[in-house]
Amino acid sequence: MKVLFVADVNGKPGRRALHEGLAGLISVHAADVVIVNGENAAGGVGITADTYQEIVRSGARVVTLGNHTFDKRGTEELLDQEPWLLRPANYPPGTAGRGWLTVTVAGIRLLVVNLLGRALMGFSPDCPFRTMDAILEDQAGQSDAVFVDFHAEATSEKRAMVHYLDGRVAAVVGTHTHVQTADLAISAQGTASITDVGMTGPQNSVIGVDPKAALERFLTQRPVRFESATGPWQLDAVAISIEEGKATRADVIHLVEASDR
Ligand code: FE2
Repeated sequence: MKVLFVADVNGKPGRRALHEGLAGLISVHAADVVIVNGENAAGGVGITADTYQEIVRSGARVVTLGNHTFDKRGTEELLDQEPWLLRPANYPPGTAGRGWLTVTVAGIRLLVVNLLGRALMGFSPDCPFRTMDAILEDQAGQSDAVFVDFHAEATSEKRAMVHYLDGRVAAVVGTHTHVQTADLAISAQGTASITDVGMTGPQNSVIGVDPKAALERFLTQRPVRFESATGPWQLDAVAISIEEGKATRADVIHLVEASDR
């Protein structure tokens, strides 16, 4: 089974990147299932019904979220309506939606889990490590492979999760920081990992945000309304082959649109 995971789709340039670049990637990498983190899809923060549908139309089977899950009005209803939309599993009990699901491709059951980090995130969901233990225990024997999107700020927390889940899952991919890290690996136990897959969004930006607004905040130390940047896109992803629950091959993808258009 080949999984294509696309990092944080940011605003209109991110959605355009999916529209223009994802079909080609699916075909080149012969992807069986596409997972897309869509937590910045709507103007850089959160997701709406329209932006969710746009991501699905571009080829995504499963859409994951993160710290901006509930930033747009209507996300609770959207989570209730869309069974393939995941929010982090370690939100408090009683939160709308689901944090994991199983997608079956050619008879192989892939458990996809979305988790949120606690370090430097500004709020404190339940422990992602113990949440993962509970999910693996609950789902034991009901899946053939496990894929984790760990949406977190701190490199240390993400690397710790990779070690915590070593040999127990096929892949742990980090999201949220929007800069692709050069540390793709497959452990001896068959767990693929990367600290951050990056961002699918505007190239000319401060991690997705319009540089003017981001700079103004740094220079004035005052609240400044952030807008998504515009212009040429980049598409960041990883393609991971999984056999018998273990990662057997992994590739990073960083596509950029030329700016002279
Ligand atoms: Fe995030």
